Amino acid sequence: MKRYDKIFDLNKKWVDKVTNNNPEFFQELSQGQNPDYLYIGCSDSRVPANEVTGLDIGDLFVHRNIANQVPANDLSSHSIIQYAIDVLEVKHIVVCGHYGCGGVHEAMQPHSHGELDNWLRNIRDVYRMHFDELNKIKDETKKYDRLVELNVIEQCVNIIKTSFLQQSYLKNKTPMVHACVWDMRTGYLKDLDFNFEEHLKDVQKVYNLENGE
Ligand code: CO
Repeated sequence: MKRYDKIFDLNKKWVDKVTNNNPEFFQELSQGQNPDYLYIGCSDSRVPANEVTGLDIGDLFVHRNIANQVPANDLSSHSIIQYAIDVLEVKHIVVCGHYGCGGVHEAMQPHSHGELDNWLRNIRDVYRMHFDELNKIKDETKKYDRLVELNVIEQCVNIIKTSFLQQSYLKNKTPMVHACVWDMRTGYLKDLDFNFEEHLKDVQKVYNLENGE
């Protein structure tokens, strides 16, 4: 078993390195945060938000869960989105999936995972919504990659369904919602060219929460 203490040794080395570069770094950091981005990504240990986006400490407000989801009844992701919009006033919300996502893979398997089934069900719902498109793809890896992409797009749509996104965007023109996938086989991020304005118009046909009480 690896030593737990290791993280304190590594932390000390990191603090030394950072303060050697800029002795005021932590003093400045402690003054407050003003990130332009909310990042919603997967908990996978291989997909660290700041490294993948190249953004510094303080630039990225982060939420991660299994398969980067924003289900309607999930208090955690919705609280984070509301805080990011209303308090931090982020300019961009980025949902970032990744190829090789274990959560998406397990949702494609025809067996139960116990308690995890409820969480994976949201991905199965994405599969059901896009069943015809996915079922036409005979290559299993390509089908898996496409479900990863569609899952990201549907989570962007879920964000657009919220009153706080609609009310903020229609008043301030921020934040915009973006979909991307990280390819761990190459290291590159892929933009899915999510048409935010078009999806917003489409969502508002049914989920128009633009007006408050
Ligand atoms: Co994943």
